[in-house]
Amino acid sequence: MPLEQTYQIERQKWDTLATGKSEESLRLAPDDNFEKYVQRASTMVGIGEFLGDLQGRHVLEMGCGLGEVSALLARSGASVTTFDLSENSVLVAGRRAQVNNVAGSIKLVAAAGEHLPFADNTFDIVFGKAILHHLDPDIAWYHPYRVLKSGGKAAFVEPVGMNPFLRFARNHIPYPYKNPRGADRPLNYDQIHQWGRPYSQFWYREIQLFSMLERGLGFSRRLAFLRRLDDFLLPRLAFLRRYCRYVVMYMVK
Ligand SMILES: C[S@@+](CC[C@H](N)C(=O)[O-])C[C@H]1O[C@@H](n2cnc3c(N)ncnc32)[C@H](O)[C@@H]1O
Repeated sequence: MPLEQTYQIERQKWDTLATGKSEESLRLAPDDNFEKYVQRASTMVGIGEFLGDLQGRHVLEMGCGLGEVSALLARSGASVTTFDLSENSVLVAGRRAQVNNVAGSIKLVAAAGEHLPFADNTFDIVFGKAILHHLDPDIAWYHPYRVLKSGGKAAFVEPVGMNPFLRFARNHIPYPYKNPRGADRPLNYDQIHQWGRPYSQFWYREIQLFSMLERGLGFSRRLAFLRRLDDFLLPRLAFLRRYCRYVVMYMVK
């Protein structure tokens, strides 16, 4: 599909989802920050330990959406730059920054991840949650690396698309809090390796196999036995990992 067409589909979807957000819905809990968020979020495996102290760090968040993570990063002392293709999302992210008194620490831009409008070697950290799988990797793969400083770290949490049952569910089965499908393509191993190729160090970890059922079955709480099953099986049975729901990627320039 031509890039302009994917942009059109994605803009329309995310601009629509960004409308009608109340000030109250954008307010963070008073003492919340990025460190607390990555400890409680089941997909953020190892991110806090990997990125370390954010105080005074220049962080690029790729694909800010409605700006929650950017605001949390700012709460943790980072100087944040962020962008999104959806102008409505960028506007909401700006409102969220104001509502939470962190607007002075967040620079927002409407831009596409295939053409990052930032100079080489600018950021200490690049972070993205569910953004790479919206981008064309053949065009965008080098940009996060390019804008990172030497020795800088990048981390991404992305959906994986190699499980046929999960693919069917994503395309056809309604489940709680599901967004309509856009033009995104959850990653396969070739793409995961393509994103990691330029870095001096790159490793990744597939997460959520049985525990993906928590969401699919509508449970809003953690089901400890499913997580224990994942923790037991995934390190031992490598062939299962491709069927996981997410991958967490860690890179060092
Ligand atoms: C799944 S949302 C994730 C948003 C945010 N990171 C979060 O976790 O809440 C994907 C975001 O990617 C943005 N997006 C889609 N295609 C893009 C592109 N080519 N360049 C930049 N952003 C894009 C969408 O507008 C949307 O905000």
